[in-house]
Amino acid sequence: MSDLKVNIGSLELKNPVMTASGTFGYGLEFEDFVDLNKLGGFVVKGTTLEIRQGNKYPRMAETPAGMLNAVGLQNKGVHAFVKDILPKIKHYNSHIVVNVAGSKLEDYVETAEILNSEKDIPAIELNVSCPNVKEGGMAFGTSCPAMVEVVKAVRNVWDRTMIVKLSPNVTNITDFAKVAEDEGADAISLINTLLGIAVDAKTRKPKLSTVTGGLSGPAVKPVALRMVWQCYNAVKIPIIGMGGIMNTEDAIEFMIAGATAIQVGTANFVNPAVTGEIVDGMEAWCKEHNIAKISDLIGSLEV
Ligand SMILES: Cc1cc2nc3c(=O)[nH]c(=O)nc-3n(C[C@H](O)[C@H](O)[C@H](O)COP(=O)(O)O)c2cc1C
Repeated sequence: MSDLKVNIGSLELKNPVMTASGTFGYGLEFEDFVDLNKLGGFVVKGTTLEIRQGNKYPRMAETPAGMLNAVGLQNKGVHAFVKDILPKIKHYNSHIVVNVAGSKLEDYVETAEILNSEKDIPAIELNVSCPNVKEGGMAFGTSCPAMVEVVKAVRNVWDRTMIVKLSPNVTNITDFAKVAEDEGADAISLINTLLGIAVDAKTRKPKLSTVTGGLSGPAVKPVALRMVWQCYNAVKIPIIGMGGIMNTEDAIEFMIAGATAIQVGTANFVNPAVTGEIVDGMEAWCKEHNIAKISDLIGSLEV
């Protein structure tokens, strides 16, 4: 048997396979398809201080080789998460990662503080792709000074593993990876969705109520791989790679480009059992290629 273990901050993952926020609910919704105990970790949906209804419909549109979404962080809020959801998922023998989102710096900090008093949560993932209402809606993660502020402030109140999830909607992703590292992130994850628009030619209207939305799925994979590889060459903290991973081979490619672990997003909508299949696939792939330790693949791209 190959050794599939990898480390992210203080977490030891039994294998590199995680789920991507917003595509796997709270994990519970997928219990009939995947044994959650089998996963390295699972990231729950974006969690905000208050309950959010999300954006108006339509908020999803299929695109060639992908999809656009503008769900708008619909979630139950951190208090309901802690009270109603956490007791139902904390028994799993897999690391729970809470994706934290906000529209103001103070919201991120307060949400992280509340989560910090819950010892069953080993890690948070900071979603910095949210619009900053105080800065006219510019995403925190697309301005280095705003990123410094939010990562530093959350680091002060969160004492376990902190993953910062980068936005790809920037000119130089490594600037943002370095900010995360300098301000105390234990790992970075990337990529979040790429900003796009879908147009209905018949009605001459946008297909999403919000006009713009986030592109995900196989269409973004080459961009994501490029960014993972650039970040691997720029920072020392571990990278969790995602963007268009549909199968085992995609996941292995991300590790070769520099990812220590991977997350699967849009593929869960196509095949809800895909994450468990990728865990089995990695084991088989390592056996077939005589890889004793999967961690030996990390950053092994020969250029
Ligand atoms: C419907 C949907 C909802 C999402 N919600 C979140 C979210 O709440 N927080 C977050 O950080 N990323 C969110 N994402 C982004 C994914 O976690 C992931 O970064 C992105 O989709 C790229 O991976 P993929 O191509 O495998 O889907 C969402 C993506 C989709 C498709």
